[in-house]
Amino acid sequence: MGLMEIMKRYHQIAIDGPAGAGKSTVARKVAESLGYCYLDTGAMYRAVAYKALVEGISLDDEQAVTNLAQNTNVCFNRGDGRSVFCDGRNITTHIRSTEVSRAVSVVAAYPGVRERLVHLQRQEAAKGSVVMDGRDIGTYVLPEAEVKIYLTASEEERARRRYLENLQAGKVSSLEEVLEDIQQRDRLDSEREYAPLKPAADAYILDTTGLPAEQVAEKIVSIVRRD
Ligand code: DC
Repeated sequence: MGLMEIMKRYHQIAIDGPAGAGKSTVARKVAESLGYCYLDTGAMYRAVAYKALVEGISLDDEQAVTNLAQNTNVCFNRGDGRSVFCDGRNITTHIRSTEVSRAVSVVAAYPGVRERLVHLQRQEAAKGSVVMDGRDIGTYVLPEAEVKIYLTASEEERARRRYLENLQAGKVSSLEEVLEDIQQRDRLDSEREYAPLKPAADAYILDTTGLPAEQVAEKIVSIVRRD
């Protein structure tokens, strides 16, 4: 039996959207309500970017970054859905830094890096029902997902959420700086040639501006139950 056939035995919910749209908070709540595993694919791209920075590999060197990704194993603690392991080492607290956030869109634009991580993501989906969040889940990674959601929110609101998250994590940043980073990342993620950020043709588009995560998660769960 092929990987695609095995994956179809389980339920798949795809949640895509730009930075700060609330994907991870919402996806985690949806997974909890449904009893599915949560998989944060952005964390996997961040893990490769982090490893490249630590090993001093030039981000512009596509071949070197691709080789690095091909030789990297990224996995999650399926129990808490939070802890990320890179080659067996827990790197959860290291991958949200400003340096990694800036490096990640460069790394994520390389087809060889995406190929490796998509392979790992589909392997995870073959193990059980999942809620997966990212940029290309509904369009590319899990094209057969039962429910596809594209979350969005105004740029200002997304920047404000990231800014508050940073504050909570004890990171000093200005709102303007966060807004600029978000705009730059959206540009790179949407304009890249390979698997760019865009809603799947059959995705539900939800604007979360002004909505609490709890309410958005409830809406998604009701869509899943209805479908
Ligand atoms: O969701 P996040 O901010 O942790 O994602 C980090 C980066 O990884 C984001 O700038 C784009 C990239 N990414 C991607 O290209 N494809 C995915 N499925 C998930 C993330």
